Amino acid sequence: MNATTKNWIPIGSLLDIPRRGARCVKSGDTTIALFRTQDDQVFALEDKCPHKGGPLSNGIVHDGCVTCPLHNWVISLSNGEAQGADSGKTASYPIKMDGDTILIDIVSARSS
Ligand code: FES
Repeated sequence: MNATTKNWIPIGSLLDIPRRGARCVKSGDTTIALFRTQDDQVFALEDKCPHKGGPLSNGIVHDGCVTCPLHNWVISLSNGEAQGADSGKTASYPIKMDGDTILIDIVSARSS
């Protein structure tokens, strides 16, 4: 397998995630949060805030970001990076859609 090969795994349905909400799936010891935006885009981040590990899946989804419920850091859904003056990064995972089915590439996680 080379670096550009993707291993797409079906992980659930878009319809299982509320708009502007999240749903979690487990991959080994890692919890992955799938976020659905108001306009039905889906993003996957490790469910762990880069600040102190807060559960991002319980945060508010807005403007392509999620606000952590613990101390209100704002994390980009597309790359997991903390926004504004904060710094740090949560692992993000490539996602693609096949109809309403969400496919994830867990192997190609982009972490800090
Ligand atoms: S743990 Fe997320 S902002 Fe502090």
